[in-house]
Amino acid sequence: MKYLPELFAANARWAEQTEANDPDFFAGLAALQSPKYLWIGCSDSRVPANQITGLKPGEVFVHRNVANVVVHTDLNCLSVMQYAIEVLKVQHIIVCGHYGCGGVKAALEGPPLGLIDNWLRHIQDVRDRHREFLAAVADDDARWRALCELNVIEQVRNVARTTLARDAWKRNQPLVLHSWIYGLADGRLQDLEASMQGPDELESATARAVGAVYSRYQPR
Ligand code: CO
Repeated sequence: MKYLPELFAANARWAEQTEANDPDFFAGLAALQSPKYLWIGCSDSRVPANQITGLKPGEVFVHRNVANVVVHTDLNCLSVMQYAIEVLKVQHIIVCGHYGCGGVKAALEGPPLGLIDNWLRHIQDVRDRHREFLAAVADDDARWRALCELNVIEQVRNVARTTLARDAWKRNQPLVLHSWIYGLADGRLQDLEASMQGPDELESATARAVGAVYSRYQPR
């Protein structure tokens, strides 16, 4: 019994087309991958890293989990980062969140969902850090959007504080961290401008980006 024949048929069409456009495509990729980017994004099916950035297979190394969280004891995420930085030598790590993130919403106000609540606790830590600001955002949707943004900024901070990023910077390996957010409604990426090229930029980049979120949602 063969299952999901439609996906195999679509795959065959895609492979044929890709090979027709570039006969060396698969042979080249099989021999080597040298992506410049590591993408840390949400598992949400509507936020596929390659498609929304127009990148081809081989061009972006991808790690996804619920609500794009970077936890310092998550061996999965750390292993991806280590391989990306030390072996593939990616030059950019992009943490990309998205508006309408169910994980962020659940952390903000949701009913208990089970095991995943333990994972979402990390986002509740972000929520609690900005409790006063979030409480002052009157509109529920705006509060949700704001926490989606603050979560990205916090997770980029977590990337910067790993031994992996710190060691790369210590040996002067070029590595830029980026904080992006994607809009499900319009397909657009936005830079939240917490980018950093070294540990000395950590505090200033975070302060600048968090300040921008605060003033976006609470204009004086
Ligand atoms: Co999400």
